[in-house]
Amino acid sequence: MKALVYKSTGQVALEEKAKPGIIAPTDAVIKITKTTICGTDLHILKGDVKEVAYGTTLGHEGIGIVEETGNAVSNFKKGDHVLISCITSCGKCEYCRKGMYSHCREGGWVLGHLIDGTQAEYVRIPYADTSLYHIPADTNDESLVMLSDILPTGYECGVLNGQVQPGTTVAIVGAGPVGLAALTTAQFFTPAAIIMIDTDNNRLDVAKSMGATHAINSSQENVIEAVMALTDYEGVDTAMEAVGIPATFELCTQLIRPGGKVANIGVHGKSVSLAMEELWSKNITITTRLVDTCTTPMLLKTVSSKKLDPSAFITHRFTLSDIESAYKTFGNAAKEKALKVIINNEY
Ligand SMILES: NC(=O)c1ccc[n+]([C@@H]2O[C@H](COP(=O)([O-])OP(=O)(O)OC[C@H]3O[C@@H](n4cnc5c(N)ncnc54)[C@H](O)[C@@H]3O)[C@@H](O)[C@H]2O)c1
Ligand SMILES: [Zn+2]
Ligand SMILES: [Zn+2]
Repeated sequence: MKALVYKSTGQVALEEKAKPGIIAPTDAVIKITKTTICGTDLHILKGDVKEVAYGTTLGHEGIGIVEETGNAVSNFKKGDHVLISCITSCGKCEYCRKGMYSHCREGGWVLGHLIDGTQAEYVRIPYADTSLYHIPADTNDESLVMLSDILPTGYECGVLNGQVQPGTTVAIVGAGPVGLAALTTAQFFTPAAIIMIDTDNNRLDVAKSMGATHAINSSQENVIEAVMALTDYEGVDTAMEAVGIPATFELCTQLIRPGGKVANIGVHGKSVSLAMEELWSKNITITTRLVDTCTTPMLLKTVSSKKLDPSAFITHRFTLSDIESAYKTFGNAAKEKALKVIINNEY
């Protein structure tokens, strides 16, 4: 089968690999119909996620059809249409029992990280019963791919951890798919203002069309001054970091008012500095989180009932045979006006 393989820093290639089979009785093999590329895949290519071995198939998002199940899988059978969660969970360990699936002792974020991922014709999903979700057989809705990772990530790591409440003010640094997912799901709580900050004017325009009340281009304006002017010189209640570099995390700590929350979403490859001499007395909270995907069932309902429409996240479509071009497009998002790219498996 064809699979997109991480070759070395900055390099991927579509290669021929053996089709995965069942290893453990709790496994399922899924024929991927649609997958996508995440900002985290770009962090892997940059060398930020050191544990990813060369030769690993990338990808942790997608929808597909069950091809084969192990003897212990009871909730899914051949032919079922499924959503693949970016987080694999055994459902039984101490962390899973707390709903912190990201730290499952047997799984967590393994797909396209520690084991072969979804940017391929087929993928093996461990603990299929608790890591897959049923989707109606008649839906071939590409927007469901947004539920594998970006919507739960924006919602859990950004909105829930940042404690967005009615009437509060929110700043989101990074208007990529994850920042925009946080913007979309923050509106469940009707905050008074959502200020989006990015260096890409196209993404800022998209953010405005998705409900941002203000947009600031941080390469053209002094962000701290602009945010203070918009918040009576107090700062925001919640600042979310959705880029994954020290400068944007440090910016978030400068944008919040006393009692504010900094909710980190970005994957970081470097240390950040924390100005404790400024922050110690500000009664702030800083949170970090690897997405648990514990809100996926709820988000699936909001999408199937059309209360939430993630189709606006999709800007480009490619076939699996052309996935290397998809990487180039997603990697040059500003020039290509790209958000999420859908990769259709034509094989
Ligand atoms: N915590 C988790 O579980 C989790 C899950 C998924 C993704 N992520 C992370 O979330 C982050 C965002 O993901 P994405 O897919 O939206 O990535 P992306 O690369 O598409 O988006 C990042 C955005 O940041 C903007 N940006 C870059 N430098 C900036 C700067 N100095 N100031 C302001 N904006 C700047 C870019 O223009 C871009 O729009 C990544 O770090 C990704 O790895 C985390
Ligand atoms: Zn991801
Ligand atoms: Zn577990």
